[in-house]
Amino acid sequence: MERSRLMFGLAFTILLTIVTTPSHCKYHSKTVPVDRLKEKVTQLHFYLFDILSGTKPSAVEIARPNVTTDKSATPFGSLYAFDDHLREGPETNSSIVGNAKGLYLSASQDPANFTIVMYADFGFTTGKFKGSSFGVFSRNPVAESPEREVAVVGGRGKFRLARGFARVKTHYFNATNGDAILEYKATIIHH
Ligand SMILES: *[C@@H]1O[C@H](CO)[C@@H](O)[C@H](O)[C@H]1NC(C)=O
Ligand SMILES: *[C@@H]1O[C@H](CO)[C@@H](O)[C@H](O)[C@H]1NC(C)=O
Ligand SMILES: *[C@@H]1O[C@H](CO)[C@@H](O)[C@H](O)[C@H]1NC(C)=O
Ligand SMILES: *[C@@H]1O[C@H](CO)[C@@H](O)[C@H](O)[C@H]1NC(C)=O
Repeated sequence: MERSRLMFGLAFTILLTIVTTPSHCKYHSKTVPVDRLKEKVTQLHFYLFDILSGTKPSAVEIARPNVTTDKSATPFGSLYAFDDHLREGPETNSSIVGNAKGLYLSASQDPANFTIVMYADFGFTTGKFKGSSFGVFSRNPVAESPEREVAVVGGRGKFRLARGFARVKTHYFNATNGDAILEYKATIIHH
């Protein structure tokens, strides 16, 4: 008798669980295979103007460590904020296509191997990708080779769910004032 009551109780509990558990919760959608979303690839080519000189620099130092051992212009731990123009070509009068905003950090303990880590958003203000942007979160071993690679890790607007990479080449660099013009060739996979 006790046993059959126990069995009935158990069966009732299971039934109640089935009835009261919703088929899907409200905080997420149905999960579907990603291959239903069509992926596209876009190549981008532009020049980034990182200007430290003058009365209206596009990159400013916001912090540096109080150490005297590293005599370089950008000692390990220096942090810069930037809002750089992106232009179609390397000439200073070339059309502006967007801007890159963010931070870069001098991240090598060895001054001979100047490396930065970039935390940046590259946005476009004209053409097909106006209002869209992609994110770069990457090391950039500036001193290692004339051409470096940085990782593209996400995006907004037309670059939603972006991933990819950009090849970065120094087109112009003034070691006295730190001004630089960098050529970017990006390959971006997005939806
Ligand atoms: C930098 O460090 C030196 C030596 O430790 C100290 O005397 C000086 O006050 C520090 N300067 C700042 C701005 O913190
Ligand atoms: C930029 O300036 C040069 C020479 O000053 C001129 O030849 C060229 O057409 C200009 N380019 C643009 C896009 O205005
Ligand atoms: C640092 O830079 C020096 C000089 O350019 C080079 O010889 C050395 O291999 C570099 N070290 C590393 C760890 O990349
Ligand atoms: C580099 O910057 C210095 C200081 O601003 C300036 O005098 C010099 O003309 C610049 N060199 C080039 C090649 O632009």
